[in-house]
Amino acid sequence: QENMTNNFNDIFICYSLFIGYLDIYKICDQISDAVLDAHLRQDPDAKVACETVCKTGMVLLCGEITSRANVDYQKVVRDTIRHIGYDNSEKGFDYKTCNVLVALEQQSPDIAQGVHVDRREEDIGAGDQGLMFGYATDETEECMPLTIVLAHKLNAKMAELRRNGTIPWLRPDSKTQVTVHYDQKDGAVIPKRVHTVVISVQHDDCISLDEQQRVLKEKVIKAVVPAKYLDDKTMYHLQPSGRFVIGGPQGDAGVTGRKIIVDTYGGWGAHGGGAFSGKDFSKVDRSAAYAARWVAKSLVKAKLCRRVLVQVSYAIGVAHPLSISLFTYGSSPKTESELLQIVNKNFDLRPGVIVRELKLKRPIYQDTAAYGHFGRPEFTWEIPKDLKF
Ligand SMILES: *[C@@H]1O[C@H](CO)[C@@H](O)[C@H](O)[C@H]1NC(C)=O
Repeated sequence: QENMTNNFNDIFICYSLFIGYLDIYKICDQISDAVLDAHLRQDPDAKVACETVCKTGMVLLCGEITSRANVDYQKVVRDTIRHIGYDNSEKGFDYKTCNVLVALEQQSPDIAQGVHVDRREEDIGAGDQGLMFGYATDETEECMPLTIVLAHKLNAKMAELRRNGTIPWLRPDSKTQVTVHYDQKDGAVIPKRVHTVVISVQHDDCISLDEQQRVLKEKVIKAVVPAKYLDDKTMYHLQPSGRFVIGGPQGDAGVTGRKIIVDTYGGWGAHGGGAFSGKDFSKVDRSAAYAARWVAKSLVKAKLCRRVLVQVSYAIGVAHPLSISLFTYGSSPKTESELLQIVNKNFDLRPGVIVRELKLKRPIYQDTAAYGHFGRPEFTWEIPKDLKF
């Protein structure tokens, strides 16, 4: 470790993170969000809480849904698995032949009554108690930690090169991990160099390990990681297990919501623990986490701070957040209570208002379930609000 730190006199943080894009958990997340989208397409007011379980040759949907939509679950599940790329049992899974079991019930009438029945939209209560965090940092244009930006882009690049035929031996299951050396200054963090890149990706059996490592370095890493961050000390662990032919549901069992750090900030900031996929906006685990990110990014883009963590908390059936807090790591010329006043003046964090301002009744969710929910310009919560202060 020592020789790695010599170049830098400043303190550094070594952050690793762990991304499974198409690992089995993300398959489950994508199916849960595909089910949610299928309902919202027909009934924007659908109340959906859909969990997915996958194992060899089998997908189980379970949860509570109240909706006017008529959804063909067999088709939604199979289309999602086909899109991911599991079309042959040799790869570990086949959308055509897997079993799809459905165990979905109506939302509990007690919860419906306590949260949304007979209420004006902005008075809709939070669907559960809980606390959520949003985070933003000025180290990248998208205000996300560089570690998670690079880790997602590596997975996305492999999927692109697999789908367009450039690297035909790649299979869908992949994980990447990026460690970055940082300096810290006045509460902000500044990336210096990439310390380590780890890639494990499922592959056809016919290709040598040396060739895999060469192609991953040349076509994936060099295409994604800016050259200024790579040097001759950067370490690569490419296909460290040596062999990864069987992936997806035959390798592991999966359930929805087990990769919450991949979905958010790669371990930076904080996490309230609630997963996103398969949940409509009335579940504040999702809508308030999106809103907290929107608040955090708006503050950083307004240059009120360089880095910020925003926390909100709710009680079931109560519309207004119980608390809103923020922490700037010392990166703001203003005090935290001054910033909080700006937040309170500019944001209404009731779920029934968040849904309107962020347009959360649209069927947009399947896209969120791969490559992270934050830092992507196509989502409304990434468009900074023009703050009045
Ligand atoms: C596949 O995508 C890569 C990266 O964008 C591009 O360089 C390459 O030309 C594409 N290949 C085909 C066959 O479209």
